[in-house]
Amino acid sequence: MDLNELDKRLQNPPSPLEVIEHEAFANNGLRLFVKRDDLLHPHVSGNKWRKLKHNLLEAKRLGCTKLLTFGGAFSNHITATAAAGHAFGFSTLGVISGEESSAGNPSLDFALECGMKLRFTSRANMRNLSETALAHSLDIDLEKTFLLPQGGANCLAMQGCQEMVMEVEAQLGQPPDFIATACGTGTTLAGIATGLQAESKALGISVLKGSFLENEVKKLLSDCGKATNNGALRSNWTVLDDFHHGGYAKWTPELVQFINDFKQRTGIPLDPIYTGKAFFAAFELAKQGYFPKGASIVLVHTGGLQGITGFNERFGPLIK
Ligand SMILES: Cc1ncc(COP(=O)(O)O)c(C=O)c1O
Repeated sequence: MDLNELDKRLQNPPSPLEVIEHEAFANNGLRLFVKRDDLLHPHVSGNKWRKLKHNLLEAKRLGCTKLLTFGGAFSNHITATAAAGHAFGFSTLGVISGEESSAGNPSLDFALECGMKLRFTSRANMRNLSETALAHSLDIDLEKTFLLPQGGANCLAMQGCQEMVMEVEAQLGQPPDFIATACGTGTTLAGIATGLQAESKALGISVLKGSFLENEVKKLLSDCGKATNNGALRSNWTVLDDFHHGGYAKWTPELVQFINDFKQRTGIPLDPIYTGKAFFAAFELAKQGYFPKGASIVLVHTGGLQGITGFNERFGPLIK
């Protein structure tokens, strides 16, 4: 596939923007919408599509034939990169943190089915070494290889997230007052913040315990300032650190109940690692009166639904 064809195949029609009728919002005069990025592609869905799009184009432009990336054993980014490589003609190699015995979960099985080769490294190496150093430590040949950082967190990823904002503004006919997303690395939030009109506000709901994400987002905005409309100057975003339900991949019965209720009422599935926590947070904020009367709120469905199978295998069939 040449660059022109890849470019054509990556031109997605806008994902739907669905209106959600729910008393938690309507009672406060709020308008709620869900941006269904989970429907963009069966396996490269949600923010993964947005974050990979310009990376794939750049890889092709540079003449790379292989994608090399990094992640945990349940990483959505790993499965999405594997699926993208399979769909768009790149070979893929994933470096996974942890023991080789952690293979055999649904996410890594899927990556293997897509043709991704897997290598394993210690968590300490993954934390401390640069991507190139990691590749060297595993004797990985980097010829014609495009390196994607863990979580796909780079400036090109932010560009794709900016495009999602433009779609939302066109679909609404005006900028939304708030647009909210789950945050892991903060790249999606940073991309949204740079794409938004000044009067709109971006909310990032951290799925991790701790309060380091704000600095990560600042760093992304500063590093990617030139590529993204001088994002460093933007302050139209906030990270909310209190909705992690115990930490990454941790959960509470309230979260599980919310996800199941939300699906029953709207038909929209949510995953317990990312989107469930973000949407739960938005409902809590609406109840607490966080949003001014009459505000429009867009929740971005960032995908991640493949994580439900692994979650139910680990904890029992909790997510319906
Ligand atoms: C489904 C889903 N939503 C949200 C996120 C968070 O995105 P980011 O890492 O850009 O903050 C991820 C990322 O890793 C994800 O898999």
